[in-house]
Amino acid sequence: MCPEMKTITSIQALRATLDTARRDGKSIGLVPTMGALHEGHASLVRRSVSENDITVVSIFLNPTQFNDKRDLERYPRTLEADCALLESCGAQIAFAPSVEEVYPEPDTRTFSYPPTDAVMEGAMRPGHFNGVCQIVSKLFSYVEPDRAYFGEKDFQQIAVIRRMVDDLGFKLQMVPCPVVREADGLAMSSRNTLLSADERAIAPAIYAALKASQDFARSHSVDLTRQYVVSRINAIPGLRVEYYSIVDADTLLDVHAWTDAPAVVGCITVYCGQKPIRLIDHIHY
Ligand code: PAF
Repeated sequence: MCPEMKTITSIQALRATLDTARRDGKSIGLVPTMGALHEGHASLVRRSVSENDITVVSIFLNPTQFNDKRDLERYPRTLEADCALLESCGAQIAFAPSVEEVYPEPDTRTFSYPPTDAVMEGAMRPGHFNGVCQIVSKLFSYVEPDRAYFGEKDFQQIAVIRRMVDDLGFKLQMVPCPVVREADGLAMSSRNTLLSADERAIAPAIYAALKASQDFARSHSVDLTRQYVVSRINAIPGLRVEYYSIVDADTLLDVHAWTDAPAVVGCITVYCGQKPIRLIDHIHY
């Protein structure tokens, strides 16, 4: 499947390979993914390859983080193309286990890191971050990476995983990596391939509104800035804002004034089109 890169499907084989590498003093980077890889993932893999002796990329469509089963069913699956991309980026190991390998028994562990996992995506997708913590904690314990790479597109996910790393005492460095965008500003996402041509044409309006709101925010309150973004996006037929929260970048709690937190970020989720496809993005103020 991937001639140069090793593709491993069993946890035992992965551990054996990495134990040998670790004994040889090699550093290990982990890039967790759900497959359907794009240039955003490639940027994480290249960064890991440049900073570690061995880069492991997990490809596992984790069922426990999908609260909406239709979303899981239609999630793109492109293993052959994924392996080709990983190989071209210089990854040494693709770890692509089956669901039975990862969850021989249902995972009954619960993770709770409020407020980070309770707001925004946590409120809209009950159980989502619990599933993310279940799989990421498993991957961390299989791989025991020195560094783990996550895209900042999933801004809230990084905040939750940081809490879990502190809580469980994983000895690794979290490496958040910048959002990679299409030329028209749309944040790269595996879900973008599900957009029709018409939906793809309107989707960049999300980032355009966020960008414009940075200027608007210089002379307006948090609340007016929030309303500005929501009304600008909702004015476009085919787009509907689910939430736009302007929050403390660390706690993810709403701010009411720009001075309420040292770093403020706006996080948005928008439904695009008829199906509809759920798109997320964020902007720093
Ligand atoms: O961001 C993702 O693709 C997933 O949530 C992750 C971190 C790979 C866990 O399944």
